[in-house]
Amino acid sequence: MNLLIVYYSREGSTRLIAQGLAAATGGTLRELVDSRKMEHGGMFRALRSTMVGRGTTLIDPDYSIEPDARVVIMTPVWLGRPTPAVTTFVKNAALRGTRTFVIAVGGTTGNPGAIARLAKRVTSRGALVIGHADVPGYIPDPKAVRPSDEELVAEGVHLAEAVRQAFEEPS
Ligand SMILES: Cc1cc2nc3c(=O)[nH]c(=O)nc-3n(C[C@H](O)[C@H](O)[C@H](O)COP(=O)(O)O)c2cc1C
Repeated sequence: MNLLIVYYSREGSTRLIAQGLAAATGGTLRELVDSRKMEHGGMFRALRSTMVGRGTTLIDPDYSIEPDARVVIMTPVWLGRPTPAVTTFVKNAALRGTRTFVIAVGGTTGNPGAIARLAKRVTSRGALVIGHADVPGYIPDPKAVRPSDEELVAEGVHLAEAVRQAFEEPS
């Protein structure tokens, strides 16, 4: 299966989950890099963009998608929403006609709003959302125990089954 796994990750949990998913599916990883520096008010501006559904400027973005590619789009959840980097990718990528699986990585599971927003944007670009998942990354509290890198990679490996099944079902 020609699987493209596109993701943004600020702190690294989404990257590790994506790596596990890629290892288990043979998918190709594509990381989105936000040009915004998150220090000195950059995070505040990023969150303002997140709130209003605005994107950002990506560094060296690749918006190409091979015609036979199946696409997985992964975003951290910020304020119950997809991140600006992923919003920009969805706005610009050649998604029309593709089958897409969307994944939200949050401090907890239970982020239906982020999934619904992302799915709506992907659908409005002419793609078909064939499945979704909602998985835990880092709890945004310095006192919380963080899952280990190995645990996050294992989460990605575990996700592979749901992704594979969704793409195998006729749509
Ligand atoms: C500014 C900010 C807002 C967040 N808002 C939410 C939220 O609304 N719901 C949630 O479950 N997690 C929220 N989180 C937690 C992140 O989604 C979580 O830590 C995720 O694993 C981060 O992904 P990353 O490590 O790939 O950057 C927030 C984190 C940050 C930094």
